[in-house]
Amino acid sequence: MRGLLCNGLSAIAALAALASPTAGQTHESGAPSPAIEARVASLLGQMTLEEKLTLVNGRFPRMMKSLPAGVIPSAGYVAGVARLGVPEMKESDASLGVANAGRTGDDAVALPSALALAASWDADMAYAGGAMIGGEARHKGFNVLLAGGVNLVRDPFNGRNFEYLGEDPLLAGRMAAASVRGVQSQHVISTVKHFVLNAQETGRHVLDARIGEAALRESDLLAFEIAIESGAPGAVMCAYNKVGGAYACENPHILTDVLKTDWGWKGFVMSDWGAVHTVEAARAGLDQESGQELDQEAYFDAPLRAALADGRVSLTRLNDMVGRILRSQLATGLMDPLPAAGPYDKAADAAIAQAEAEAGLLLLKNEGDILPLAAGARRIAVIGGHADVGVLSGGGSSQVIPAGSLVRARPAASPAWSEGIVYHPSSPLAAIRSRAGSGVVQFDPGEDIASAARLARDSDVAVVFAEQWTTEGADAPLSLSDHQEALIGAVATANPRTIVVLENGGPVLMPWIDAAKAVVEAWYPGQRGGEAIARLLFGEVSPKGRLPVTFAAGPDQLVRPSPPGLAMATAEGLKPEAQAPFAVNYVEGSSVGYRWFAEKDRKPLFPFGYGLSYTRFHYGRLKATGGSGVTVQVEVANIGQRPGVAVAQLYLAKSPGRTQQRLLGWRRVALKPGERRRVEITAEPRLLADWDEAAHDWRIRPGAYALFVGDNADDRAATAQAVLRGAELKP
Ligand code: BGC
Repeated sequence: MRGLLCNGLSAIAALAALASPTAGQTHESGAPSPAIEARVASLLGQMTLEEKLTLVNGRFPRMMKSLPAGVIPSAGYVAGVARLGVPEMKESDASLGVANAGRTGDDAVALPSALALAASWDADMAYAGGAMIGGEARHKGFNVLLAGGVNLVRDPFNGRNFEYLGEDPLLAGRMAAASVRGVQSQHVISTVKHFVLNAQETGRHVLDARIGEAALRESDLLAFEIAIESGAPGAVMCAYNKVGGAYACENPHILTDVLKTDWGWKGFVMSDWGAVHTVEAARAGLDQESGQELDQEAYFDAPLRAALADGRVSLTRLNDMVGRILRSQLATGLMDPLPAAGPYDKAADAAIAQAEAEAGLLLLKNEGDILPLAAGARRIAVIGGHADVGVLSGGGSSQVIPAGSLVRARPAASPAWSEGIVYHPSSPLAAIRSRAGSGVVQFDPGEDIASAARLARDSDVAVVFAEQWTTEGADAPLSLSDHQEALIGAVATANPRTIVVLENGGPVLMPWIDAAKAVVEAWYPGQRGGEAIARLLFGEVSPKGRLPVTFAAGPDQLVRPSPPGLAMATAEGLKPEAQAPFAVNYVEGSSVGYRWFAEKDRKPLFPFGYGLSYTRFHYGRLKATGGSGVTVQVEVANIGQRPGVAVAQLYLAKSPGRTQQRLLGWRRVALKPGERRRVEITAEPRLLADWDEAAHDWRIRPGAYALFVGDNADDRAATAQAVLRGAELKP
């Protein structure tokens, strides 16, 4: 495990270990052993053509005429070859828990959003969450989790940002890797997805993502590369969109040249559901068609048979496809006798969800140290956000609905297959009440602004819960609703001691920020989110989260202030088949998020990496060592009155001849008041390098590299320089 173990984390690791007797035994599907290769060859030698075809045909159980015995309705199913011990693949979404929509009586624990997890900057936490959901998946009989969403957050409006791990390739890649390792420790294959550049939902079935080769290698591909090399996922799910003119699931460059050849990855590529358009996908590098009922034709059934017969697809390629699937099954232990899944311990799993929420909750503003709430806060007004019921979650295929959730009707503009707006059953109001002692906690739903303002005026402090529901299948507005913005304004006018708690999918604009004394970013905090929020408000835990995305000050600062193709998609009622193709030119290239802000010299509202604590930190005595790579040592001190967790972030500010900002590494450090510690951070070499298209490798140019360590991307608290010899790194 990476990084320092911070307060409470050893307990989490222990909980994760308890979730299954096999936790911790990671399988190296990225580096298969000779024994596994021998078993793959032997199985292939014994399989008939029909049996091989069975393994490349993925079905969508909800649309199958009849379900095979023991198969429960879920995202995916692939028949096995019983006579050879090749198991059926029972697939479930996703990375925030075992998606259970539509299955009555099937409870599942919901983690916070992936963006909340990324805000923890804590790979151990990602592992623990992955192991927890892997254990639940296995307990329910699934052996594939469609987890590992690692698309970069290029635009704040992307409706699926809550399923992803932020805007930085190193942070996203490392967090995804740890989560995948956690899932696979439970003998459940994990995907990483959606390969690649599925950066918006609007027109996702028709848009062509355009970007230069070097820019792609240095951004989205790098996130996948890191996730794959250190996470060793059994599967990669290719995306809906086109990349450089060819559909991602039919794209020989990204599937075969990059993923399988350059990176040498040995697992299998499965398509996204409804992302295949021709049998040619097999030649391009797709190994398994998923949810084929959603494609125009079951391409890997009769059309693949025909293509094999007339030589358009070779038997060698089919053997490669099947061999890859078998290899991932073997590497994850699916063909070996496995220890029985442990008993379903909901309380232990929910404790992990709460720990993850507490690790990712973020304090954006805390004027006059209004937080934590003083014991003297006698009358507390809790307003809006359905805080009496629970906490919001994001919609779409990743939706987990724990028992006791509230499901409200979905808005008309959201996809018809969405379950609705789901509130996880953890009421912040109840959790605040249970901590208020003799104080009086009153609730106003916030629908009538005047009534909410009256309650705020008669209270000592007002906590406004503001929500932004986002979902797969639709992109989101950049701001809270007008009503909620007006509500915050009116409440803050009535009582200046106003705290705003945000439950949202990704960055939102905050024109109301000056009115609020404090702002807590709670993301979608999962099924113990209410408890986690209350604990933070009352100072039982110190805020630890740091932004994995930049929060812009206004739409004019963004590369794209609204989703390309939106007007057309809205007019067409979001039906993919009705949409005309369009292109999105990713003009920012690899300068995603904070890199773009640095390049354009724009000052965001809150920079990447930012997050307050109830204490303060100082970074000093930075010493950088160069040569073939960069390692720094820095002293981190807690100079406040409370314990807290610092996240020392190492950035590149300038490489020879070029000003460019990049996160190179980080270290979480738990410190008691007055404590100081010297920590070491080693830079990921590819972030010191540029991709050289002509040479087809990474180049670290010789010369001086300007570095800094600080609390966020705009905090040059300690600066240093390292001189590098220069190097070429193979992909
Ligand atoms: C989503 C995938 C998901 C799949 C199966 C697709 O619509 O894009 O992320 O895994 O459905 O539910």
